[in-house]
Amino acid sequence: MRSSISCVIASFGLAFSALSGALELSAHCPPAMRVDDSGHCKLHSRYQSYASLYDKGVGGLKTGLPPWRDGFTAQQIDLGRLLFFDPLLSSNQKVSCSSCHDPALGFSDGRRKSVGVTGKPIARSAPSLWNVTFMRRLLWDGSKHTLEEQMLGPLYSPVEMGTTPEMLLRRLQSSEAYTALFNEAFGRPSPTLEDLYSALAAFQSSLISLNSRYDLYAHGVAGALSAREIDGLNVFRSFVARCAECHTPPTFSNQQIAVLGVPERDGDPLDIGAQATTGDASQRAGFRVPSLRNSALTAPYMHGGNFDTLRETVAFYTGGRGHAVPEGEDLKLHWHIWTPELTDRELDDLVLFLNALTDQSFLPDIPDELPSGLPPGRAIAPQARAQSRIVVGD
Ligand code: HEC
Ligand code: HEC
Repeated sequence: MRSSISCVIASFGLAFSALSGALELSAHCPPAMRVDDSGHCKLHSRYQSYASLYDKGVGGLKTGLPPWRDGFTAQQIDLGRLLFFDPLLSSNQKVSCSSCHDPALGFSDGRRKSVGVTGKPIARSAPSLWNVTFMRRLLWDGSKHTLEEQMLGPLYSPVEMGTTPEMLLRRLQSSEAYTALFNEAFGRPSPTLEDLYSALAAFQSSLISLNSRYDLYAHGVAGALSAREIDGLNVFRSFVARCAECHTPPTFSNQQIAVLGVPERDGDPLDIGAQATTGDASQRAGFRVPSLRNSALTAPYMHGGNFDTLRETVAFYTGGRGHAVPEGEDLKLHWHIWTPELTDRELDDLVLFLNALTDQSFLPDIPDELPSGLPPGRAIAPQARAQSRIVVGD
């Protein structure tokens, strides 16, 4: 089993022909996908054989997936992989998507708040991109609806990548290597911005994590979880803790906006979340429910890196409804935010269960070199790579 998995991984994303030194795009779909008759890569998961109850608010063990994006070609996905790591896409040529969404940190950056071209922290923390293909609401405040729409934010924000459409197009079109690769992926004589956006969306849609030990358990392998992890799962889906009402399997997010009343830290003012983009006062400090898959890798947690560890994060939920809401704020807390009075042991079990949601078996290759010749961007000096794993003695 192990060797066949690593074999699949090794065949994903062979972008370079090492012998010739020439750049080539992979002709193989990523391992989470199968090629269809027309040469497009389509998602392939056991969950597709279960009925989808998406939008019905239930997420039992054998619930199907919400809608997703796929249908790109292997070459488009692989070109997107190179672009994702390439700092050529930023004004100072030092920041890439992967600088804040580093595969080694669950496609996050280990910081409370991300840092872009200005070198200063921006407003929020970088979420994981695993399974982003299933998200119909993007960003912490849920204000964007497609990957293409979302990426205009970081690309052209002066505090993230700081580039402009003109600068970006000029750089891509004047690169011989990129011109050849865009041509291979999209069949046009020179790169266009639309093709750039499609390639980045294609790559992000290929980041699938549905093979954790939890998934094995859900598919019927009873021994895949330990007794304590099963206890954690039972707390998670109990009507006392209510976690699964919002973090609904199999994606562990019902994608709705919920108001929790998470405390800001470092003296930061309240982040008003979805209210800022919808104008709806009932969504003040409301955030889109994040997925919890691979969250063991993405400390610190919540929209502003508000908690350092998973243990602190789950303990927040048992602190009492509204316990951290600043004085003078009247937040419309979600009705599933209550006071479950979980014991220390139950909180430990929840964390053990969350750790069983880790699966990076389809981690894409991090390129050694890029068409631009620049070094691939990685998250630098994470301030708060907190240890979220706990040691539980029995
Ligand atoms: C400077 C750091 C930084 C860079 C560079 C960056 N991001 Fe992000 N990304 C973030 C932060 C922070 C958020 C959350 C912002 C928010 O919700 O207000 C985010 C959110 C996202 C989301 C939404 C995920 C979700 O679950 O809703 C996607 C998708 C994404 N980024 C993709 C990209 C892509 C593609 C690039 C490159 C074009 C990129 N990011 C570059 C920091 C960054
Ligand atoms: C009412 C819906 C709701 C319920 C119930 C709920 N959550 Fe959450 N959860 C959210 C939202 C919304 C966020 C993001 C909040 C923020 O950033 O301020 C979140 C964030 C988290 C995070 C941090 C994820 C990350 O990547 O930063 C963890 C871990 C988490 N929840 C676990 C749990 C557990 C365990 C329970 C049950 C005890 C639970 N949640 C119950 C809505 C909910």
